[in-house]
Amino acid sequence: MTRAERKREHINHALSTGQSRETGFDDITFVHVSLPDLALEKVDISTKIGGLTSSSPIFINAMTGGGGQLTYEINRSLARAARKAGMPLAVGSQMSALKDPAERYSYEIVRKENPDGLIFANLGSEADAEQAKRAVDMIEADALQIHLNVIQEIVMPEGDRSFTGALSRIERIADGAGVPVFVKEVGFGMSRESARRLFDAGAAAVDAGGYGGTNFSKIENLRREKALQFFNTWGISTAASLAEIRSLSADQSVIASGGLQSALDVAKSIALGACCAGMAGTFLKALTSKGEEGLFDEMTALLQELKIIMTVLGCQTVAQLQKAPLVIKGDTHHWLSERGIDTSRFSRR
Ligand SMILES: Cc1cc2nc3c(=O)[nH]c(=O)nc-3n(C[C@H](O)[C@H](O)[C@H](O)COP(=O)(O)O)c2cc1C
Repeated sequence: MTRAERKREHINHALSTGQSRETGFDDITFVHVSLPDLALEKVDISTKIGGLTSSSPIFINAMTGGGGQLTYEINRSLARAARKAGMPLAVGSQMSALKDPAERYSYEIVRKENPDGLIFANLGSEADAEQAKRAVDMIEADALQIHLNVIQEIVMPEGDRSFTGALSRIERIADGAGVPVFVKEVGFGMSRESARRLFDAGAAAVDAGGYGGTNFSKIENLRREKALQFFNTWGISTAASLAEIRSLSADQSVIASGGLQSALDVAKSIALGACCAGMAGTFLKALTSKGEEGLFDEMTALLQELKIIMTVLGCQTVAQLQKAPLVIKGDTHHWLSERGIDTSRFSRR
């Protein structure tokens, strides 16, 4: 199977397996505010992401490119909707275009359609510093995402079997990319230990990429003869992962992703410490079921609903929402207690 065919299979399998909603967000409840003393029109949702300023704290997470016409068309629609909504957009892994220049057009369309928007390049941690620069240049990217997808690769029939040297490659990439480097998980969650090593290696932001959304173990198992079923429920939930990474420090940029479906999920992510939130499966589903206009409507509704939630919480800015009190119960509370993270830092602030 060619890389391009695999890209197309991923899209179909991502849509058919969907998102499991085991993100841990159901364990999180905001403390209701009866006197918010704020008007909706005053709410400002702009944010800072690893040194970049974005008018939207929600972005379209990395999905595609490199699979010929279908992926070109998806990227074109995502870029148009992103430009209209003012949302940053990440392309899918560009390794296919680095290996086969005939695939470049399926990524370059994003910059053509969205000349002034924030666009993130994307490569896996197998990439070297020179490839990273070429990926950034290909789409004049504002930042580079490096994805960590050990579980996906190990389940993928034709995937990698050696995972050595990733951290030192990331260090060299962060040194020479010329743009901020964001390191992301892809749905299995990031522990604070892994996040700390990535920040120390020069990551400008770390994306929790938590469990509970699109599941690349399920997707790759559909492509295997003998499934590695045990990886289908493997990982750290998005909510637990965010709280873990936040416990390192209040200053570093933490990005939320993994199973986000609603403005409330985004608000909870930010209150757990994220500066912004990426959505992939939710937007892919909206685009394929409702078309480009339907996707745009969904994006603007999400931004508006986030403002509404911030209003009732009395949070005028993203920085204020990051400090909104919330209570953590259930499995997420248990996980964090076992990991030595004091949940009262969220409930009594
Ligand atoms: C069809 C599809 C393709 C993806 N390809 C990439 C990729 O090339 N690079 C990457 O970093 N993440 C990729 N992802 C992962 C997403 O960026 C995201 O981390 C993951 O889907 C979890 O978020 P979600 O639950 O919002 O979908 C892909 C996701 C989907 C649905």
